[in-house]
Amino acid sequence: MTSEIITMPQVQLGQSGPMIGAQGLGCMGMSEFYGETDEAESRATLERALELGVTMFDTADMYGVGANEEFLASFLAAHRDEVIIGTKFGYARSPENPNDWSLDNRPEFIRAAVDRSLKRLGVDAIDLYYMHRRDGVTPLEDSVGAMADLVTSGKVKWLGLSAVNAEELRAAHAIHPISALQSEWSIFTRDIETEIVPAAAELGVTIVPYSPLGRGMLTGQAFARGLTGDDARQNFPRFSPENRDANMRLVAKIEEIASAKGVTSAQIALAWLYTQSGKLKAKTVPIPGTRKRARLEENVSAVPIALTAEEMEALEPLAAAVQGIAV
Ligand SMILES: NC(=O)c1ccc[n+]([C@@H]2O[C@H](COP(=O)([O-])OP(=O)(O)OC[C@H]3O[C@@H](n4cnc5c(N)ncnc54)[C@H](OP(=O)(O)O)[C@@H]3O)[C@@H](O)[C@H]2O)c1
Repeated sequence: MTSEIITMPQVQLGQSGPMIGAQGLGCMGMSEFYGETDEAESRATLERALELGVTMFDTADMYGVGANEEFLASFLAAHRDEVIIGTKFGYARSPENPNDWSLDNRPEFIRAAVDRSLKRLGVDAIDLYYMHRRDGVTPLEDSVGAMADLVTSGKVKWLGLSAVNAEELRAAHAIHPISALQSEWSIFTRDIETEIVPAAAELGVTIVPYSPLGRGMLTGQAFARGLTGDDARQNFPRFSPENRDANMRLVAKIEEIASAKGVTSAQIALAWLYTQSGKLKAKTVPIPGTRKRARLEENVSAVPIALTAEEMEALEPLAAAVQGIAV
């Protein structure tokens, strides 16, 4: 049995935010990057997620160059008080310039970006507003100061940062409380564990691991061999022909543990994250991305699965052996 109805545990968002379901839903693939999408099934997946206790939904202004935020608008309109919507600013790409991948953290950019996101999402306020990436130029004080002003004006409720280091997290938090840190964290990508996870735990910041299934790779060998069409992962180092086979041999270890436990590899990947964040005393709400109800149910069912010390030990060496950088 791999999919069961569970009572979703609750995790507090930041130091003073609401309680949210311990698993969120990544919505990016519903609009871009991961190949062909089925809009009706994606919509059904959003509804099913809410029924199962998922309350945090993750998007960004750049996913589908605004299309992902627009796609979520009707779902939000129907369930505004039941869900937390997280979105992000930072990439300059726009419908006029979809290939402009430059970053912009200037206050004037942030003030314009938030208004565009509010309009596309069709909401009066964004629950969780993240800086997607630092632009390497704008002082953190200026960007976080502008984000704090959005809280004061009521356009945003809580602030988040994505892919910052521990020093940046602490500096930002000193300017305005940071409720969430979104970074890649999975069996294959563990860089944040040494400094960032402890800093977040100390500051009461909720960690929102993105790509907890390694962009699908951790879910099994068949998955990563089957990428076709305009799927962006074909250009990602870990999926390149020279690295993929080596990485798939590591995934075989996950499959072996899953099969012995009677669960799926995706469930092992998520259960690992809950077990590891418990060990590190971090508040964690992973956001696996899926566009399919059956997979959503499978992923949600992983929340109560505990991994044994032996299973954790068997998974321990995998990250160090992965070929290709995370992107
Ligand atoms: N802050 C950032 O910079 C950043 C970067 C990347 C992503 N994100 C956010 O994090 C979310 C999740 O990350 P992600 O989508 O990159 O990667 P992920 O959650 O690690 O993996 C998603 C992939 O796994 C597949 N999948 C999901 N559940 C599955 C299951 N049970 N069995 C088999 N396959 C399964 C999905 O396919 P189907 O959809 O076809 O089911 C999709 O291709 C995104 O949606 C986005 O909101 C943020």
